[in-house]
Amino acid sequence: PDAVSVIATKRDGHTLSSDQISWMVDAYTRGDVADEQMSALTMAILLRGMTRVEIREWTDAMIASGSRMDFSSISRPTVDKHSTGGIGDKITLPLAPLVAACGAAVPQLSGRGLGYTGGTLDKLESIPGWRADLTADEMTRLLDDPAVGAVICAAGADLAPADKKLYALRDVTGTVESIPMIAASIMSKKIAEGTGALVLDVKCGSGAFMKSLDQARELAATMVELGTDSGVDTVALVTDMSTPLGLTAGNALEVQESLDVLAGGGPADVVELTLALAREMVAAAGLDGVDPADKLRDGTAMDRWRSMIAGQGGDPAAPLPVARHTHDVVADRDGVVTRVDAMAVGIAAWRLGAGRERQGQQVQAGAGVRMHVRPGERVSAGSPVFTLHTDTPERFDGALEALTDGWAVGDDAPAASPLILDRIG
Ligand code: URA
Repeated sequence: PDAVSVIATKRDGHTLSSDQISWMVDAYTRGDVADEQMSALTMAILLRGMTRVEIREWTDAMIASGSRMDFSSISRPTVDKHSTGGIGDKITLPLAPLVAACGAAVPQLSGRGLGYTGGTLDKLESIPGWRADLTADEMTRLLDDPAVGAVICAAGADLAPADKKLYALRDVTGTVESIPMIAASIMSKKIAEGTGALVLDVKCGSGAFMKSLDQARELAATMVELGTDSGVDTVALVTDMSTPLGLTAGNALEVQESLDVLAGGGPADVVELTLALAREMVAAAGLDGVDPADKLRDGTAMDRWRSMIAGQGGDPAAPLPVARHTHDVVADRDGVVTRVDAMAVGIAAWRLGAGRERQGQQVQAGAGVRMHVRPGERVSAGSPVFTLHTDTPERFDGALEALTDGWAVGDDAPAASPLILDRIG
């Protein structure tokens, strides 16, 4: 094959052969296919789509670009969770130690923030001393330790390197929002990681890549099929991301909210989703008769959190960083909050310094948005709706602008909408 003929095949709406796919992904990873050629192909894929067979072959080619991890020496069943990304989505933080407390080993490979969506590793790095980079031996040791059983860490450079390069290219060429490429990107990493079972949280709504329920269902079904075909027991929940999860978006702010959940409190929606995903993970791991809610109540999940953080060099007792400046956004009338838009809050938190404008930039640990009310709750004129946090007060204006049309107060409560929209698998 040659790059131009592969691009032309997809441009003209034909199906790529297995040879074309494996050659193109391999040649791109090695640097023999140029960025402009791969970006033409990813745009053709975005516009023309891929068959299930092409998606399978594309995923396999990305797995083959690196090496696979192996947790077969671990005595307990392994199970991992992956979210397609959202605003205020701190669920991994309480979930990984909770599921470890239920008896599974949780090798949670996570990422950094991308655009206005937050990253689990950025959140945890607000804990003094905590390290995202672990060797394979460190991971295995912590997962095998009966007092720990969970790690949240960065993927090594050799895990699906084709995806690392492709993701960075898609990010700057408007080609992220393709169901085949998102499915292959996520599943190549999860299959190469070698987890026995996987629970997916596919986000749907303004703060997610998938804006409609139909798109989210299709992405979920595609990923479930890829996992199942590879021997990974995979199930997906489709969940709402039109409103942020919980009351915080930002790094240390979200760690604090996760600690509230582990201590038996926290916002109802965060608790609901943490428990729903934990129940799916416990079932997928084959651990019958364990109720994750008991492990939140009796403090074992919090114990696992402390040992997991300490095992990765962090000080679980250290105070979390606090931003130097705050600014309140207040309601201008009495009424009921009818809408808080996930994307608006995500962009505000990002502009306050919780996310990056350029690759490699440092994030502010204390920056972000705290919401005082959720849709359906009452406010009175002059009472705070949001508090903005930043170390750099010149950022308030940009955040305020992002929030302008992102919330509303009216006379009537909005219709209650479910958080968990579907289950596929
Ligand atoms: N997350 C990923 O890992 N890859 C995508 O393509 C989108 C979200």
